[in-house]
Amino acid sequence: MAIESSCDDTSAAVVRDGYIMSNLIAGQDIHMSYGGVVPELASRAHQANIVPVADQALKKAGVGVDEIDAVAFTLGPGLLGSLLVGTSFAKGFALARNIPLIEVNHLHAHIMAHFILEKDKENRVPKLPFLCLLISGGHTRLIVMRNHLDMVIIGNTLDDAAGEAFDKCGKLMDLPYPAGPMIDKLASEGNKKAFSFSKPSVKGLDFSFSGLKTSFLYFLRDRIKEDPLFIIKNRADLCASLQETIISILINKLIKASQQTGITEVGIAGGVSANSGLRNGLARESAKRGWNLFVPPFAYTTDNAAMIGITGYYKYLRGEFSSQDTAPRARF
Ligand code: KG4
Ligand code: ZN
Repeated sequence: MAIESSCDDTSAAVVRDGYIMSNLIAGQDIHMSYGGVVPELASRAHQANIVPVADQALKKAGVGVDEIDAVAFTLGPGLLGSLLVGTSFAKGFALARNIPLIEVNHLHAHIMAHFILEKDKENRVPKLPFLCLLISGGHTRLIVMRNHLDMVIIGNTLDDAAGEAFDKCGKLMDLPYPAGPMIDKLASEGNKKAFSFSKPSVKGLDFSFSGLKTSFLYFLRDRIKEDPLFIIKNRADLCASLQETIISILINKLIKASQQTGITEVGIAGGVSANSGLRNGLARESAKRGWNLFVPPFAYTTDNAAMIGITGYYKYLRGEFSSQDTAPRARF
């Protein structure tokens, strides 16, 4: 049994021998009108959702509570109040059933999503070492996975994450939170060459997105002075141009990382990996560069317990268990 509650999705999954039996997610619409996740509301919603979601995950998997051998959960990083709900549930479950408790790093799990096996599907998993670009609402990292439980961070964001760039710029265009999916949709109707925004010059494999957000803000402010309806009239082109800028920053660093490490098993993970422009751009690059490209199915890009379950499964095989003293961590 796996539990994920790091941000605003309550999720439970059941995994057997590396195969996902069920993966249920309860989202939280309550944050939409606030322009971001409200931590206190998130933890309350987790409390309301966690028991029914876990119950449904068991039912969908056709598994009884007494058949569960271990319980994995997200220890962090994430919102502390949200993490506490999942951690407490998992601890209680493990204690009551007298089964091992397995803590999972949420970021590790996003990458491990590539190793999820599904029944009756052709399961393609990366060979190791695997180079993965992790792009979520809170993180932008280039990671080399040496084995399932051993990874090295070779690039990191110096300020905002890629998802934050989507969300914050979306907010400036009055798009609801999280703006990433909406920008993706609007971008498909716009001209990506309509506007150009400056790209950061960050050495090595690190990233920076706060400058882009600021230049987007100033650009909008200047244009709105000339035409108060500028955003409304140009929304699709703005989204397409902004998305193109973010994508090219990400792809260029991934190319650089592959060249530096010599790794051609390449993938993306995390919420922003759902972006269709990024997926298309990477498909073109990988054809050109002979990469073996891994893009997770949409269900496993944003937060889900299946990825916690597969990570927990590998930790279970290695006997990496946690004690009841373990405490959630907002940061790692
Ligand atoms: O991994 P995730 O679900 O949660 C975190 O752990 O942060 O990522 C959420 C982020 C948000 O910033 C959201 O706007 C972004 O993923 N996102 C997208 C798309 N779908 C989700 N960004 C761009 N295009 C998308 N299609
Ligand atoms: Zn996440």
